[in-house]
Amino acid sequence: HGTSSINEDNHLTIGGLDTVQLAQKYGTPLYLYDVELIRQRARAFKKAFEVQGIKAQVAYASKAFSCLAQVQLVAEEGLSLDVVSGGELYTALAAGFPAERIHFHGNNKSYDELQYALKSGIGCFVVDNFHELHMLNELCEKTNTQTSILLRITPGIEAHTHEYILTGQEDSKFGFDLQNGQAEKAVTEALDSEAITLLGVHFHIGSQIFETAGFILAIQKLYDYLAKWNNELSFFPEVLNLGGGFGIRYTEEDKPLEPKEYIEAMINEVTRLSASNSVSIPEIWIEPGRSLVGDAGTTIYSVGSQKDIPSVRHYVSVDGGMSDNIRPALYQAQYEAALANRAGEKGTKKVSVAGKCCESGDMLIWDILLPEARTGDYLAVFCTGAYGYSMSNNYNRIPRPAVVFVENGEEQLVVKRETYEDLLRQDLPLKNGVLAGN
Ligand code: LLP
Repeated sequence: HGTSSINEDNHLTIGGLDTVQLAQKYGTPLYLYDVELIRQRARAFKKAFEVQGIKAQVAYASKAFSCLAQVQLVAEEGLSLDVVSGGELYTALAAGFPAERIHFHGNNKSYDELQYALKSGIGCFVVDNFHELHMLNELCEKTNTQTSILLRITPGIEAHTHEYILTGQEDSKFGFDLQNGQAEKAVTEALDSEAITLLGVHFHIGSQIFETAGFILAIQKLYDYLAKWNNELSFFPEVLNLGGGFGIRYTEEDKPLEPKEYIEAMINEVTRLSASNSVSIPEIWIEPGRSLVGDAGTTIYSVGSQKDIPSVRHYVSVDGGMSDNIRPALYQAQYEAALANRAGEKGTKKVSVAGKCCESGDMLIWDILLPEARTGDYLAVFCTGAYGYSMSNNYNRIPRPAVVFVENGEEQLVVKRETYEDLLRQDLPLKNGVLAGN
């Protein structure tokens, strides 16, 4: 998929470049990003709104993968940016991202983070709770600053059969509840504030969603209240932020929709409900993370040791694991893989791919058909672009891998591999080898 192909040496290529050569040049594990695929996705989301004549902002959820180059790419594609911490905001600003297109999320933003974002002139805060609303209001008054906000609403859809509802259910740490009047109280307070402009409301119902039903249900639920607020509070949002969560294909069992299919369904429902409530169609914002970068990322590992337990399992170990991709261990996430240096060969042997961390649960893939692997082969694990590097860690003091962007036959190193010295960067030795006072 994307720009992947196989060359005459039987090597996997991405963006017109030989992944084996890249692995040899930059070392393994190595995260590779297919930049053209990221651009295609970004454009597909934007176009889905443009063709319908709907005013929109597509904000990239930078938690999925953030570094200077990625933020620059997102800026170049004209997207907005969703950040959830001072660190993500700092990265965005350091990359020169236009502050007015930054949206700040999070259920426990600190005073310092609010102050930093306010001073930076970000586009809007997605306010999650009363504590934040009050803190932000005080801060604005104290510094004589105006700002715009969305209120994060918990739509309270309880559809237990669908896993995708998991962050939209009532019992969630995020947002103001619709049902118990919290959301309405927040709307009233925000409208009363002189420093704060209430632009609209936000919801996010979950991640890796394959259907439109959950979005439609949430929009319907929301409009029940919007209609009420329109009548009773004379407030109707200028902006509806419908969150992210659009699914991608990790394995063949995953059946995601195209960006435009999600967007069309959302637009249709918002348009229908706006008409039936005689209100104008609000601007629609979305904030996809995974669907913009997930399948654009491929991790290349080197195969090391193997262990065969006759008629039980054959383990193939690679030089990374839960330190660069914690998703299999954390969510039982599934991935597909191939040998990058023998890409055309058929899988003949059922193996399980193990990471190198000291933990039995550090398995990247259970039961996959691969060609008989040899030490020194390169294993490409696909669809690692979202929540791979961004959730990477130094467990076992393993340095984080490098990140390389590829596009049109050109490559660029965008994150250097960590060194052993980097691992000690924040460490301070005991003075004289003992605790002071001993
Ligand atoms: N907006 C909000 C408010 C969110 O909480 C999230 C994700 C997104 C947007 C982007 O969702 P996406 O389009 O990427 O699905 N670490 C997990 C995913 C956690 C998602 C958290 N929130 C994973 O690796 O699957």
